[in-house]
Amino acid sequence: MTPDAPVRILLVEDNPGDARLLRYTLQEAQSLRFDLAHAARLSEALEAIARDGADVVLLDLSLPDAHGMETVTRMLEAAPAVPIIVLTGLADETVAVQAVQAGAQDYLVKGTVEGATLGRAIRYAMERKRLETERAALLRNEREARAAAEAAVNARDEVLRIVAHDIGNSLSAVKIHTMVLERTLPADGVEARKRTEAIRHLTQQMDRLRQDLLDVAAIEAGRLSFEPGETALHRVVDDVLATMAGMAAEKGLAMESTVPDDLPAVWADHERLHQVLGNLIGNAVKFTPAEGRVRVSACMRDAEDGEGGREVRVRVEDTGPGIPAEHLPHVFDRFWQARSTRRAGAGLGLAIARGVVEAHGGRISAASEPGRGTTFEFTLPVA
Ligand SMILES: Nc1ncnc2c1ncn2[C@@H]1O[C@H](COP(=O)(O)OP(=O)(O)OP(=O)(O)O)[C@@H](O)[C@H]1O
Ligand SMILES: [Mg+2]
Repeated sequence: MTPDAPVRILLVEDNPGDARLLRYTLQEAQSLRFDLAHAARLSEALEAIARDGADVVLLDLSLPDAHGMETVTRMLEAAPAVPIIVLTGLADETVAVQAVQAGAQDYLVKGTVEGATLGRAIRYAMERKRLETERAALLRNEREARAAAEAAVNARDEVLRIVAHDIGNSLSAVKIHTMVLERTLPADGVEARKRTEAIRHLTQQMDRLRQDLLDVAAIEAGRLSFEPGETALHRVVDDVLATMAGMAAEKGLAMESTVPDDLPAVWADHERLHQVLGNLIGNAVKFTPAEGRVRVSACMRDAEDGEGGREVRVRVEDTGPGIPAEHLPHVFDRFWQARSTRRAGAGLGLAIARGVVEAHGGRISAASEPGRGTTFEFTLPVA
């Protein structure tokens, strides 16, 4: 509708006196240019609107072929984009309010409105409907965009799963061939044995990357698999420290654990907790230069959820190079690595650690004093 075109009004009213009165009132509304069509029955009105359309419908609720709310719902079904102003008598204002709740833009009590008010009501009703339609369209677009994004993520995950599965099969085959090869090596095949060990190490690395990629995708999709149970923290810490002992000794690092044996068990998935500590302690060992120190500690404290519960806080400290303050907010982002440490891994360990800790209902954070070391902290619920 162009701004100065007359407003096409469809008046649906079976009482000839009321219809006449409304026409007079409309003529009084000086600012409103209009074309008025009149229907005395709902069926007639529905036909007219299907044939000619309308900019606004003035709708009486008691017609020979429709009554009350039904009149509104049938009109809305037939012309969902056309604003409706309900006309009521003084006695049935409650129904009029229901009609507005059901989707009519406004209601007027017959015989109580003047021309100017009616003109304004019509303009407002049209404007409100326009905004409502616009909002509905925006919402629809947004919903469609979200569905498309979800579909794209699902498609990506599907490809990742297939590729990861196939790579996994190939890696298993490489591992088996290597084992067979190692068994057939002569006792003096030192050089060849070094090569097969290197192959074994590389397949392990590739398999870890494969697992990490799957874990990151699962965390993003909110479906990381884990089975929490009562877990003794000091055992997991000791296990992880044992696996790092060789590398730590090579670098001359002092490794300390002050996790008390009698600390209450935490509520965590044993494997996943191993994964988190493996990365935090692994990072500390990897980034701390020779003669440094790595310390793991844990204690009980009041949970921060304000519900009076208790939680366990685990700390991994090192005396390494530290992380500059401006980098700290990024360390848990996937694939993020400080420029100086590029290629020291895939940059997924901390993203996974955060995903795992948060999936358990805990929090993880990092603090650092560049040049003096880094401290990672996470919390876990008590079993
Ligand atoms: N203890 C630490 N001291 C100094 N820098 C650290 C420490 N821990 C993590 N970082 C920095 O944060 C980056 C991200 O760590 P993250 O564990 O996510 O990845 P990564 O160890 O590089 O690779 P991945 O864990 O996938 O093998 C590291 O590359 C490093 O730059
Ligand atoms: Mg790491």
